[in-house]
Amino acid sequence: MMKRFFLLVLISFVFSSGCSKKESLLTFAVGGAPNEVDYWEKLIGEFENRTHIRVKLLRQPTDTDIRRQSLVTPLNAKEKDPDLFLMDVAWIAQFAASGWLLPMDPYVKKDSFDTTQLFGSVVHQVDIYKGEIISMPVYIDCGLLYFRRDLLKKYGYSTPKTWDDLLQCAEKIQGKERKNNSGFFGFVWQGAQYEGLVCNFIEFIASNGGNIVSKAGSITVYSKENIQALQFMRNLIHKYQISPPNTFTEMREEEVRTFFENGNALFERNWPYAWKLHNSQGSPVRGKVGITLLPKFDNGRHAASLGGWHIGISRYSDKKDEAWELVKFILSYETQKKLCLNLSWNPARIDIYDDPEVKEKMPHMEVLKKAFESTVARPNSPYYTQVSELLQRYVNAAISGKIEPNEALKEAQRGIEKIVERYHE
Ligand code: GLC
Repeated sequence: MMKRFFLLVLISFVFSSGCSKKESLLTFAVGGAPNEVDYWEKLIGEFENRTHIRVKLLRQPTDTDIRRQSLVTPLNAKEKDPDLFLMDVAWIAQFAASGWLLPMDPYVKKDSFDTTQLFGSVVHQVDIYKGEIISMPVYIDCGLLYFRRDLLKKYGYSTPKTWDDLLQCAEKIQGKERKNNSGFFGFVWQGAQYEGLVCNFIEFIASNGGNIVSKAGSITVYSKENIQALQFMRNLIHKYQISPPNTFTEMREEEVRTFFENGNALFERNWPYAWKLHNSQGSPVRGKVGITLLPKFDNGRHAASLGGWHIGISRYSDKKDEAWELVKFILSYETQKKLCLNLSWNPARIDIYDDPEVKEKMPHMEVLKKAFESTVARPNSPYYTQVSELLQRYVNAAISGKIEPNEALKEAQRGIEKIVERYHE
């Protein structure tokens, strides 16, 4: 009797483990701010109900560098999971050149999927590799200036157009607000040593007529305009002291966002996602925030780094058809609209911008449209990650005061040339 019982248990164990293997889940890697990942959980639930495809969400952190590293390991090992993932626009070229991304053209054709609904310029620049669609944009990011409308009004200032305007106004208001709040700062931005710092750097230099891509297409960081802009970044912390001393040690997107949201800053540089959170229930700055284009230097132009996240299917996935179903769901009108309304993401679908509800609830989309006209892309190169890591190190050393801006960019230039040489051998 006992023997029979054990046999039954054993059979049912083998059977059930066999089953769970067969119906194993589709694995989708996503990261971001905690509220973003929570929202993905909700969306995935809707997808599961609709399609009966089960999905396991692989929760990744906010930091893009860490997200990339956690994908590189399984892809390098040709592992089946994750089946699909979000990719920062900055690393798609590397993923494509490594052969990790499944071309989606057969699926696009089979389902007559209309790619013309997606931001054409972005798709052409980053999602097509050797003539094939290897990813699709989910949302587009661009750097923005957030400001405290109430404080500008209280002290009689208008929104700054130039960096000098911002400086004048921040120094003044910081001085006044410090009387009640000793931890108040004029301007917070992302200065920690990570990818976000390169995005900020690109905005400062481009707003001074500089760039990191020369007209001939090579990566060139050592220029008069770039040095001046880097000096200004450093001065914001050390000379003018309108940016906190932990700017170069700790300030990433979320640290900057919470600093501003807690009422401790007048200006903030961040991506569109911060809008929804600043205006959510319980936020101390709810209803007091404005957004505008990032300021420029006298001779420069308004500039915003082009960011954003794209979806790709792993070439090693063993559930490619199901993965494509999820891609379609994420790019559907309905989901894109939800991502816009709930996370204040800039949809990759252009038709959402004309949606009456979006227009009514997200009036700031107008400012975003303008910001998109002034975006600056990072170099779309398979070795961009190496270039960025080097730049992060030197720009961070310069703003922390360890090395002079001139020296930092000269050294960075030397290092970049070595990387380029290595990759072109
Ligand atoms: C945002 C942008 C991304 C950028 C990152 C830097 O997530 O969308 O493109 O690389 O910030 O931290």
